[in-house]
Amino acid sequence: MSNEVLLRMEHISKSFPGVKALDDVELTVKAGTVHALMGENGAGKSTLMKCLFGIYHKDEGQIFLNGQEVDFKDSKDALEHGVAMVHQELNQALKRNVMDNMWLGRFPMMDKLPFVSEKQMYEKTMEVFKDLNIDVNPKTIMSEMPVSQRQMVEIAKAVSYNSKIIVFDEPTSSLTEVEVEHLFRIINSLRDRGCGIIYISHKMDEILRISDEVTIMRDGKYIATKDSKNITMNEIIKLMVGREITNVYPPKTNTIGEKLLEVKNLSAEYSKLSDVSFVGYKGEVLGVAGLDGSGRTELLENIFGIATRKSGEIYVDGKQVTNKNPRESIKNGFAMLTEERRATGIFGVRDIQANSTISSLKKYLNHGFLDNKKLSEATQWGIDTLKTKTPSQKTPIRSLSGGNQQKVIVTRWLLTDPTILLLDEPTRGIDVGAKYEIYELILKLANEGKLVIVVSSEMPELLGICDRILVMSGGRLAGEVDAKNTTQEEIMTLAAKYV
Ligand SMILES: Nc1ncnc2c1ncn2[C@@H]1O[C@H](COP(=O)(O)OP(=O)(O)OP(=O)(O)O)[C@@H](O)[C@H]1O
Ligand SMILES: [Mg+2]
Repeated sequence: MSNEVLLRMEHISKSFPGVKALDDVELTVKAGTVHALMGENGAGKSTLMKCLFGIYHKDEGQIFLNGQEVDFKDSKDALEHGVAMVHQELNQALKRNVMDNMWLGRFPMMDKLPFVSEKQMYEKTMEVFKDLNIDVNPKTIMSEMPVSQRQMVEIAKAVSYNSKIIVFDEPTSSLTEVEVEHLFRIINSLRDRGCGIIYISHKMDEILRISDEVTIMRDGKYIATKDSKNITMNEIIKLMVGREITNVYPPKTNTIGEKLLEVKNLSAEYSKLSDVSFVGYKGEVLGVAGLDGSGRTELLENIFGIATRKSGEIYVDGKQVTNKNPRESIKNGFAMLTEERRATGIFGVRDIQANSTISSLKKYLNHGFLDNKKLSEATQWGIDTLKTKTPSQKTPIRSLSGGNQQKVIVTRWLLTDPTILLLDEPTRGIDVGAKYEIYELILKLANEGKLVIVVSSEMPELLGICDRILVMSGGRLAGEVDAKNTTQEEIMTLAAKYV
């Protein structure tokens, strides 16, 4: 590509206590291109971007923007010099409205008056939203919007700075399919305007679709930069992982046993979920497919007692359970990994051990006291099984990479020894290698006679690990298919049944 170089990062190194997060890394981004940054969980992608954006200060190396050396002292400095970033972790003022969040720290002032003009703020927000075709009322309180819309606000905010370089750190992890298409149109138009886009994602198909070039990192080191047109998904995976990955899904060895769970005519009070009935067996991996908004998450939340039930019954081993709230559900042998882990599941300042064991503390009691050895064995089991990358059990969870934080939360639910495990998008944000570990674990649990219910937007994943798949549509159960004898087309047809 002959486009001019916009950003050049050279010999970047950065250490945290116990970790060399970046070791002599380089990155070159050209104007008018989308540059994908890829690597396993903990490879250093977010850290490299935070060094660019002035959130972290690099230990070594140089950064050049348009040929001029820069070293931003904080994110405000970076924004003022044309570098914007959409973060992996949303960090918004949830009690305030959309336009407050858009202009926080840079409120437009009314002519010569030292206070903020609401009207001006509203108009400016509408202007940005119109330009990007975003349909959100600037006066909506953030907490009242779904995560996906909050993510779109964050994207609009980054774009509104008219930056030359825009970093998207896993922007699509909570977007609906329609919103992903929308984001891609925005990114394409930014590229046409000559911006340099840095795009981080674990979704391989997205990378090949949207990027012009891809830089691969592994263990804090620079590995290679390739033209996206001339590289295959397998080649990227090999560079990321450092070895060939031949199987994406582990072989299925589980056998289906007796009926374990029966759900009868479940309807929700506050969502579309209506009249859902199904059964689940011991040793089964049961998938739940459907479009965004079809009621997949609501179904799990209802069974687990997070959402309010209007009617319906739940039976475990033939005995009726009420599962009125999560505490009761856990007692009845259920566990649930929620979709919005970053917002609801993480105790940021606490360490890996506390975050791993907090929902299963009873197991580690010894004469009324917590047994440290047991706590540490349980935590270590999680670290080893999911290959969680952390310097120690005592590391605060917020200093782990995004994907590794998720692994800790997965561990937490596994440690509750559930008989029925409800997993909402269990591999979201997790790299290809670690996905395999999670699939293996799901199959191992099924092999132990547990029922694992998996909601996933990734159809190949459902086909790869499930025995049966329930298909939701418009809040209702549209059908049920045998994973071995179905096709993506059949599932899509069912998913559209009540739309
Ligand atoms: N503030 C911090 N304090 C201590 N260690 C940190 C901090 N931030 C990052 N690290 C460490 O640096 C390494 C790189 O993390 P980083 O977040 O850059 O990974 P990543 O490539 O973005 O991974 P993911 O795909 O999971 O988001 C990890 O080992 C992480 O634990
Ligand atoms: Mg990251």
